[in-house]
Amino acid sequence: MKMIFVTFALSAFSITLLSFNQTFDLKASVKRGKTVYETNCMSCHMPEGTGLEGTFPPLAKSKNLADKNRMIKVILQGMKGPLKVNGVTYESQMVGVSLADKEVADVLNYIRNSWGNKYPAVLPKDIQPGLKAVSKGYQKF
Ligand code: HEC
Repeated sequence: MKMIFVTFALSAFSITLLSFNQTFDLKASVKRGKTVYETNCMSCHMPEGTGLEGTFPPLAKSKNLADKNRMIKVILQGMKGPLKVNGVTYESQMVGVSLADKEVADVLNYIRNSWGNKYPAVLPKDIQPGLKAVSKGYQKF
């Protein structure tokens, strides 16, 4: 009897997890992320994600955006060049931005699904491991 209950509880748990993933509203997250972007990122990376060649790297059509965990760390920690994007070298520095987990996920969903980019959703629960890594010491990219 106990076994049946455990099995039932476990399957209910996995169904909840599954449906959470399926019901994550990427469209709504992208919409919220646009606001986060406009407030915290747009002044450097520009309204269309083009950046400014040689000074601010582009987010549009940059393959580096495919690496979700790299992106989480860049936002939380910032980064220091050299960095090469689409054949152009950047020897600059970005300071980490202080955002809530949900805002980091939203802004990533926005930049990873705009200007021709198309990548799977980043969930708020994906952020903490990145935060742990950057709080242990500087992450090189
Ligand atoms: C004050 C200007 C500034 C702001 C504001 C800023 N960035 Fe940056 N960002 C930079 C610079 C400069 C670099 C490149 C640093 C280097 O040369 O290593 C960079 C790098 C990046 C990269 C790495 C690109 C790659 O190819 O790995 C990403 C992603 C990024 N920024 C996203 C963001 C997001 C998202 C925000 C807002 C939450 C933001 N940035 C805010 C200036 C800025």
